Amino acid sequence: MANVTPILTIDGPVGSGKGTIAARVARRLGWHLLDSGALYRLVAIAALDQGVRPGDEAALIRLTKTLDIEFSQEGGEVIATLDGLDVRKRMRSPETSDMASQVATIPGVRAALKERQRAFAEPPGLVADGRDMGTVIFPDAETKIYLTASVEVRAQRRHKQLKEKGESVNLSRLSRDIEERDHRDMNRTVAPLRPARDAIVVDSTALSIDQVVEKIIALMKDRSITD
Ligand code: DC
Repeated sequence: MANVTPILTIDGPVGSGKGTIAARVARRLGWHLLDSGALYRLVAIAALDQGVRPGDEAALIRLTKTLDIEFSQEGGEVIATLDGLDVRKRMRSPETSDMASQVATIPGVRAALKERQRAFAEPPGLVADGRDMGTVIFPDAETKIYLTASVEVRAQRRHKQLKEKGESVNLSRLSRDIEERDHRDMNRTVAPLRPARDAIVVDSTALSIDQVVEKIIALMKDRSITD
């Protein structure tokens, strides 16, 4: 079935800049935004709080199905609440990131999040950011971008981001973590990270965030998806 709502998917590995880029493109187009990674991070935080081990698949699936989450906007920033609590500060910690990457390998967890993600497709349009937006969640999306960049540049970007938030993380540890997570995300059996067959691959190693945003907007105009 064709999508009634136009959808732009932006997939790619950690630190490719897709989160920031997706948010900016969504704002420019006046479209809704789905940060699908946030859903996996919220499952991870709930699991950590409830003392559920990453290997306990049944408990993780149960927890995902009953997850009480809400997204709201405050001055352009998206706030995620879990059981009514603002968990913004914990969303990107190394502990949450590691757990999120592990829970994301469980097919039942991914299945339980599928419909929640599809429900974000509302007029006038949706920008969906993640790993499997173009391959699994929105395979009929009109425009699919696969954003990538070298491991070094991605580690530096994440380092800067964490530093700005007052968190101190060692750069070489970040590089190692990124490589480890890339490996896990790209080699899992369910919905591995890879470009959709009809995705446009954009390498952002030598591009600024603004340049990538302009490139995507120009592409949408070329295809007459926006004016
Ligand atoms: O994009 P992110 O770093 O916030 O994602 C957190 C984790 O969730 C990451 O390890 C990969 C996983 N993820 C996924 O498997 N599928 C998605 N659509 C989004 C994220």
